[in-house]
Amino acid sequence: MKPKILALYYTQSGQIKEILDNIFRQVDAEIVFANLEPEKPFPFPWNAYAFFDAMPETVERIPIAMKPLPHNLLDQHYDLVILGYQPWFLNPSQPITSFLKSNEAAFLKGKNIITVIGCRNMWLHAQEEVKKDLKELGANLVGNIVLTDSYPNLISTLTVIRWAFTGKKQASGLLPAAGVQQKDIEAAEKFGKPIQSFLQGNKNLQEKLLHEGAVKLKPGLIILEQRAIRNFKKFAPFIRQKGGPGDLNRKGRVLLFKRLLLVGIFILSPISSFTAFIQLQMKKRKLTKDLDYFRNISFEEKRI
Ligand SMILES: Cc1cc2nc3c(=O)[nH]c(=O)nc-3n(C[C@H](O)[C@H](O)[C@H](O)COP(=O)(O)O)c2cc1C
Repeated sequence: MKPKILALYYTQSGQIKEILDNIFRQVDAEIVFANLEPEKPFPFPWNAYAFFDAMPETVERIPIAMKPLPHNLLDQHYDLVILGYQPWFLNPSQPITSFLKSNEAAFLKGKNIITVIGCRNMWLHAQEEVKKDLKELGANLVGNIVLTDSYPNLISTLTVIRWAFTGKKQASGLLPAAGVQQKDIEAAEKFGKPIQSFLQGNKNLQEKLLHEGAVKLKPGLIILEQRAIRNFKKFAPFIRQKGGPGDLNRKGRVLLFKRLLLVGIFILSPISSFTAFIQLQMKKRKLTKDLDYFRNISFEEKRI
């Protein structure tokens, strides 16, 4: 009998689903897909205000109402569960947080899980949150595959903004296509073989996935993400003091966050990248350890 895999995912543009489809091309198993859908969908493309207004609840990891999964889906036996997700504001997207914090997620207890992330390039804190949730649920994280946009930080920021606010993923003007490069999405089929071997009982899946290039991580991004998450964690409660999502009382603070974030990205980020480079030279040994930690799947509190 073929092994059975449950692939849980959320996606707005379809990018994560396309990545999963490519990974499964080389996997001989019965695959059951389950789309994790909010009761009230998030807009795509986003209007700018709704986008920035989603930050506080994403960062504070407050669940929203989700559509129930199909009846009987979670009663079946699965040899492996895949969780395909994307970070929002350095945390799991709200639908993913909502699923992980729901009663339905109790089903993950004792299951082997592979996380598959498709994002711009900042996913470390989100994955730490997912690792923590999986640990609390009693699930076993056995692998992690991360596909990022390989263009330089500022270019990928511009293209992700164009994509989020207009829906346009394809290249336009001087800017390349947004998101994970198509060739990398297609090349994701190389991860199928290690997954197949895991399903046949072989161990050390993450080691084999890393050998195939499952996590490419630039050390400078560890420092930039550490700095950014500290600021998000301060701003989120500051905005929520004025009300919940959509509350007009918090509009001034949401717009302040928007302005500061844009200044941070387009004006301070080049300076920040330079100071991160200096920090990198001074803390090389610690960062080598961090690189090793984030490329792997173990969980330690407060690594970021
Ligand atoms: C509200 C929002 C916040 C985002 N924040 C991040 C982030 O912190 N780090 C990152 O690498 N990408 C971020 N992205 C990009 C997403 O992770 C993802 O690549 C993109 O939204 C496409 O995902 P999809 O599969 O839902 O279409 C963000 C996107 C949105 C819509």
